[in-house]
Amino acid sequence: MSGGDVRRLADWDAARLHALADEYDTPLYVADLDRVRENADRLLSAFPDAHVSYAVKAHTGRAVLETVREADLDAECASAGEVKRALDAGFDGEQIHYTAVNPPAQDLDYVVSRWRDEDEMTVVAGAVDTLTRLRERGFDGRLAIRVNPGVGAGHHEKVRTGANAKFGVPYGRVADLLADARDDFDVVGIHAHAGSGISADQLEDHRELVRRMGELARSVGPLEFVDVGGGFGVPYREDEDPLNLAAVADATREALGDVDARLAVEPGRYVVADAGVLLTRVNTVKEANETTVAGVDAGMTTLVRPAMYGSYHAIRNLDAGSRPRLPVTVAGPVCESGDVLCEDRPLPRPERGDLLAVGNAGAYGYEMASTYNSRPRPAEVALDGDEARLARRRETLAELTELEK
Ligand code: LLP
Repeated sequence: MSGGDVRRLADWDAARLHALADEYDTPLYVADLDRVRENADRLLSAFPDAHVSYAVKAHTGRAVLETVREADLDAECASAGEVKRALDAGFDGEQIHYTAVNPPAQDLDYVVSRWRDEDEMTVVAGAVDTLTRLRERGFDGRLAIRVNPGVGAGHHEKVRTGANAKFGVPYGRVADLLADARDDFDVVGIHAHAGSGISADQLEDHRELVRRMGELARSVGPLEFVDVGGGFGVPYREDEDPLNLAAVADATREALGDVDARLAVEPGRYVVADAGVLLTRVNTVKEANETTVAGVDAGMTTLVRPAMYGSYHAIRNLDAGSRPRLPVTVAGPVCESGDVLCEDRPLPRPERGDLLAVGNAGAYGYEMASTYNSRPRPAEVALDGDEARLARRRETLAELTELEK
């Protein structure tokens, strides 16, 4: 029922991936809904008493959202668009937390208008201004305060939020703000998020954040929940161990201590990362002096994480058999030197037409795809048991200009 702690790129069935690439063409995202279910189940077993939401920003595809909902996770949404997607996928207002980060007026307008029918929806505000703007719109519903706990963690500086001034109300001001907010809102919780992609060696930071949140909860009196965010890392490298989720859960409970509130967590990456791969084909092979370049049809517009954070994603050549390994740079079709999926990685000698699979592409993969260089976004297939279905069709060239007047 609960599946293994990790699904490696090597565990994916090569023949099946080949058949999908032949049928749907490349670049192609593949999302395995069974693995999404397993990951959701593992989270629920590790945190049996907690409220577990899925941070939908990691992958907002309808098939994934419906799967997560059926697996009994709730939804943490970061924008009006994500709230709309969650409602469309069948989440009720009471299952939705909207985390407002510098929310544009249109987002607040939309969320408050949907809240009128779904009045159990929770809004998480990270600035005094946001409370003012919510009052102006007549919102008097369930409110949580996002705290800046002064401690952050994560796989890259760009995704560490916990100690960054942009996020949350400074720790020392939260108690007073909460007391004020109780006059106008139904104050239900406090929230903090250290950052994304927290590895085993950063668990101490996670514990410190949780400890501070526990202390704050005890000082402000009864609440419905204390949300300590998401951020659980997954192993991107083949030789990296997965987090011991049970140990993380124990450490979280211990650090929180006794509070008159329920623990809440909201992981995104953990639910979907290893449930997805990206398939891409080699179209050009160049033996340069320094490296062998495998030109492929996916690049920074398909999967931006390597270009944006220098992130490592495992790459497997599904056609190479026992060809010798040599340093290979896998490069996309965009005219920027940063447009690479890896540099000088020991991979089998590439040949034109080879199919490559890129691992852990389920989180922040399709979601961050763009149409830069006027490149249509890829298609995505959802696997459900033995079935495969097109979950999002490939964007067309005609669609790229559709918004122009
Ligand atoms: N809660 C809040 C308030 C968040 O801002 C985030 C992620 C999460 C939960 C979920 O974090 P996760 O469990 O997925 O680590 N694009 C980056 C990741 C950005 C995450 C932003 N916030 C990447 O590709 O690594």
